[in-house]
Amino acid sequence: MGSLLAGVAHELNNPLAVLTGHAHLLREGAKDESLASRAEKIQAAADRCARIVKNFLALARQQPPERGAVSVNMVIQDALEMLAYELRTDSVEVTCEFAAGLPPLWADSHQLHQVLVNLIANAHHAMRKQPKPAPRRIRLASQLDREHQRVRLTVADTGPGIAPEIREKIFEPFFTTKPAGEGTGLGLSLCRGIIEEHGGTISIQSEPGQGATFVIELPLVERATAEAARPAMETLPLVGARRVLVVDDEVEIAHMLKEILTTSGHEVDMAFDGAEGLDVLRHGRYDLILSDTKMPTLDGTGFYRQLTSEFPDLCHRIIFLTGDVLDRAKREFLESTGAPFLMKPFDVADVRRLVHRVLAVGEQGGAK
Ligand SMILES: Nc1ncnc2c1ncn2[C@@H]1O[C@H](COP(=O)(O)OP(=O)(O)OP(=O)(O)O)[C@@H](O)[C@H]1O
Ligand SMILES: [Mg+2]
Repeated sequence: MGSLLAGVAHELNNPLAVLTGHAHLLREGAKDESLASRAEKIQAAADRCARIVKNFLALARQQPPERGAVSVNMVIQDALEMLAYELRTDSVEVTCEFAAGLPPLWADSHQLHQVLVNLIANAHHAMRKQPKPAPRRIRLASQLDREHQRVRLTVADTGPGIAPEIREKIFEPFFTTKPAGEGTGLGLSLCRGIIEEHGGTISIQSEPGQGATFVIELPLVERATAEAARPAMETLPLVGARRVLVVDDEVEIAHMLKEILTTSGHEVDMAFDGAEGLDVLRHGRYDLILSDTKMPTLDGTGFYRQLTSEFPDLCHRIIFLTGDVLDRAKREFLESTGAPFLMKPFDVADVRRLVHRVLAVGEQGGAK
């Protein structure tokens, strides 16, 4: 059952990436209000599908966390950004109380992101059905508990709360009170799995009629680490137009990435498998490569191997695209390259941010 779910979920990622990407571009380019609002609706629906797929994949193949230094406040902010449109449309007010000077956590930022997205989406859902005069507020907070060496994250809403008789059940897989077709009931079981894998706890405080408050506590794991949380975009120098090569056998995805990066001012060429990619590289100079991992003829692994001998400079200027990092072999390969990767379906803003980061870091290092 698990592998069937994962297989189906995985297959959905390519078309979903096309859908979310084009919806984003459509909205960006829309000249009139109603078209923009339609595009936003398509995007919000596609994002929702993407979340469901992510949950399925993560649950079907539970993985130990892949840890790095993580800024908790940044994780909260990113999750919020992802849901901002849906929240705004339903007039949900969001307040954040971020603890200053939180040390970075030694954690899996993708997994924590998933937890936050699920909790915020749940809070949003719970309040959506409430009649209008009732307040719709989500409060997000981070706190440092120095004494116990823990970080506490709170997601509180002003929804109907959770009845005591189902309070224990809500963390079970497939438990949902949503109508058929609206919820899978996987969100909270996934959240609990992830938090416990991190050595933390997740609990609820809820009085009926008083809203629901989810509290996560994560241990501060000491790690004398040089890897600070990733630098914020603002601290990176601006980069001008660069030459980018996109390598992906999914023609629609390649075209979409081209469009995304062309609108950021870069010059983009495409190749549709690794062998073709190498051929293009032999005939021109490129500053950055975006490459799929699963391709016919020469896949991402073979492509990268060839890069190391023929174009070693580009090994630090490659971003991989993948529909599934949960496959062990692929995960180990990605780890061994140390290259960043984007999970399909990707967020257009994430694509741009990462491209900017890789280009900017390359420039700071003086390797041009
Ligand atoms: N903030 C909340 N307020 C009230 N009820 C909640 C809240 N969060 C979760 N619940 C209850 O817990 C149930 C299980 O949540 P869970 O996130 O696991 O699944 P779901 O939201 O129903 O489906 P999915 O997450 O797959 O869309 C929900 O159906 C709802 O009844
Ligand atoms: Mg949910």
